[in-house]
Amino acid sequence: MKQTTPPKTYRVKSFGCQMNVYDGERMGEMLAEKGMSPAPEGEDADLVVLNTCHIREKAAEKVYSDIGRLTKGKTQKVAPMIAVAGCVAQAEGEEIMTRSPAVSMVVGPQAYHRLPGMIDKAAKGIRSTDTDMPADAKFAALPQRRKSAPSAFLTIQEGCDKFCTYCVVPYTRGAEISRPYSALVDEAKRLTEAGAKEITLLGQNVSAWTGEDDKGRALGMAGLIREIAKNPDLKRIRYTTSHPADMDDELINTHGEVEKLMPYLHLPVQSGNDRILKAMNRSHTAESYLKLLERFRTARPDLALSGDFIVGFPGETEAEFEDTLKIVDAVGYAQAYSFKYSPRPGTPAATMDDQVAPEMMDERLQRLQASIRRDQQAFNDASIGKTCEVLVERKGKMDGQWLGKSPWLQSVHFTGDAAIGDIVTAELIQAGQNSLGAVLREPINT
Ligand code: 5AD
Ligand code: SF4
Repeated sequence: MKQTTPPKTYRVKSFGCQMNVYDGERMGEMLAEKGMSPAPEGEDADLVVLNTCHIREKAAEKVYSDIGRLTKGKTQKVAPMIAVAGCVAQAEGEEIMTRSPAVSMVVGPQAYHRLPGMIDKAAKGIRSTDTDMPADAKFAALPQRRKSAPSAFLTIQEGCDKFCTYCVVPYTRGAEISRPYSALVDEAKRLTEAGAKEITLLGQNVSAWTGEDDKGRALGMAGLIREIAKNPDLKRIRYTTSHPADMDDELINTHGEVEKLMPYLHLPVQSGNDRILKAMNRSHTAESYLKLLERFRTARPDLALSGDFIVGFPGETEAEFEDTLKIVDAVGYAQAYSFKYSPRPGTPAATMDDQVAPEMMDERLQRLQASIRRDQQAFNDASIGKTCEVLVERKGKMDGQWLGKSPWLQSVHFTGDAAIGDIVTAELIQAGQNSLGAVLREPINT
């Protein structure tokens, strides 16, 4: 039986990127504003929002199987009212409604501010789809931020005009838009009032953000960072994800000059081979990417680097793949994400000749990930002996243990007297692949 009474409790399940996490939080805030409450862990929710991701592999099938589990009593005892949100909702739209009668509403990433009205309709048995773009009205219609974890996300930019030939984002998230400066300064302030110590600025092409300050002067993301850094309650700033084409001198200098801007840069390269990069419609070469990183490292020598890679793009030969291994060797990433190429319907690469065999992709991915793991371990090993600040984010599994993040975005665990939201001084004493052990040092609280 489908839920057709007004739901009182909700659960938002977000998949994929950090922007989906941000959107999921904002949807939750909106539902709370509507008088609903989050379903406690382990208990049924009256409304489940599946906030989906469409970037890679079998995204739509995964959504249908999640819906199946919800309706067949596998995820919870009573089938909830179901909303499909996120990028699969945008890409599939009405198709979801046709294929899945259990779904009451389908809402795209630029339309979720209208979710409360759609829920009211659903409670009367009326199903609805809203995949309108762009997002002009969305942010203004959302409630103010009231609660925040020590590390918060803030979406400053959405959409993408780059049209990499493998990528579905320009179609699901639409054209690049920048949120206005004053709304962002205001949201950052509210987040710190609500307890945030760190803010990560988000955007599909975050460094393409542009705006105007209060005096009407044009600003880029570097200017925005400098402004929000003035807030004394904000201790750390990060941003993700950037495209090499949008990185300017001002941003590079900001890394050297603004202490609150953490020494970490996620800058996807995708491939180390220029022919593949061209076929991907990336506007950089392997060499221009490396030169750009050099400029960042000159400004901030301890910068930790992260990247994204795709193996098995159509036509990729063994020698071309080896260029990707070479660029990994040349950079020495502190961490990186790597994926097998997955044809996305409607993108140019999906219909290119010479799709690479799945076994070959598996083999290449394993080799690439071995290189990345090696460098990640080396980066962590080189951190041993450093004393740094750690932002405490949550309790660890063991008694008295805490988990937090170093300036270089490494997970750090330590035991001692601390609380969530503290920034403690710690010496890194032990390095694993994915986390480091530390001991507290004076002065403990900075
Ligand atoms: N196949 C595999 N990986 C992809 N990405 C984007 N589209 C695809 C695709 N079709 C990866 C890119 C991007 C990251 C967010 O996801 O590496 O930077
Ligand atoms: Fe996709 Fe390329 Fe835009 Fe990133 S820059 S969102 S990979 S099209």
